[in-house]
Amino acid sequence: MTLTICLISGDGIGKEVIPAAARVLSALGLPLAFIEADGGWECFVKCGDALPEATLNAIRAADATLFGATQSPMGKVDGYRSPVLTLRKLFDLYANLRPTRSLPIEGTRQDVDLLIVRENTEGLYSGRERRTADGQTAITERVITAAATERIARVAFRLAARRERRTVTIVHKANVIKEGDGLFREVCLRVAAEFPQVRVNEMLVDACAMWLVRDPSRFDVIVTENLFGDILSDEAAGLVGGLGVASSANIGAGKVAYFEPVHGSAPDIAGQGIANPIGAILSAAMLLDHLGAAEAARRVESAVQAVLRDGVLTRDLGGTASTTEMTNAILRRL
Ligand code: NAI
Ligand code: MG
Repeated sequence: MTLTICLISGDGIGKEVIPAAARVLSALGLPLAFIEADGGWECFVKCGDALPEATLNAIRAADATLFGATQSPMGKVDGYRSPVLTLRKLFDLYANLRPTRSLPIEGTRQDVDLLIVRENTEGLYSGRERRTADGQTAITERVITAAATERIARVAFRLAARRERRTVTIVHKANVIKEGDGLFREVCLRVAAEFPQVRVNEMLVDACAMWLVRDPSRFDVIVTENLFGDILSDEAAGLVGGLGVASSANIGAGKVAYFEPVHGSAPDIAGQGIANPIGAILSAAMLLDHLGAAEAARRVESAVQAVLRDGVLTRDLGGTASTTEMTNAILRRL
């Protein structure tokens, strides 16, 4: 049976790394079909919609979507809302999975194998913001619900149960944010009781930020709310080579799921052909896992590791390889 993958390159280096990842997917000898769709800031400027209906239909029709990156304006622009935030809301993609694993790159940490399970729909990203009439105070509501916490905790414990170390660390700031994080912690601990085979511990988010740098081998699965997960996952990526190698998945209860490198549109290097495609390629491997093609996913990961071991490195990793040279090297290893 042919699997259909929707490709949305988006803006900036998304246009460079998504075609690279698509070449890798095409080389696996799997029955895959691709549909390309538009989305992002450039798409908004062109047609007034950052996520046109045709794109939404392509996402609905596909078995999974591979997303590049979008550029977002810093301030408010009428009619524009970040496509990734829209997708997460629209399809209720409540779980953001961000794995970080050591890679054979000199000068990077070799003791990292963790998975951050980030709540993707609420917290400070729930979009409930306002200014007071005098314009001098801005209020952002941080929403934590028992229902959203319970389902993200279940994802974390279910995934931890399948890992070797079977450990979940609940990361919060319940000592200060007593209501919001108090509820988050309470619900996570309640879910933990359903998984006696998984070890559970908890840590305050600031201590977690420190321990990630000091001794990342302490962590297996981390479950946390939206903003904490966003920040900690970038920090974790920094241990193993940076944003250029970080991958992620956005999944929910339904059929729609999308996979994307953690990085953004990187306007400082866009169009130069030097972006690291590994984040996008490892995201494609996560997509394969999601579609049940675990063996192909492992092949892609092994090829990436082999190429890095060979010393093929893009500039962000201290080398000189271009996007195309890196991609070609990975294709040869496949
Ligand atoms: P960024 O991730 O685009 O870039 C941060 C730094 O990392 C830059 O110096 C960039 O050159 C470097 N970098 C990132 N990916 C790289 C790669 N694959 N290879 C080599 N170097 C790489 O984050 P920044 O600069 O904060 O944001 C730029 C734009 O991207 C903004 O408009 C932001 O809103 C958007 N953004 C979009 C995301 C998404 O689509 N999911 C995620 C993060 C940012
Ligand atoms: Mg981020």
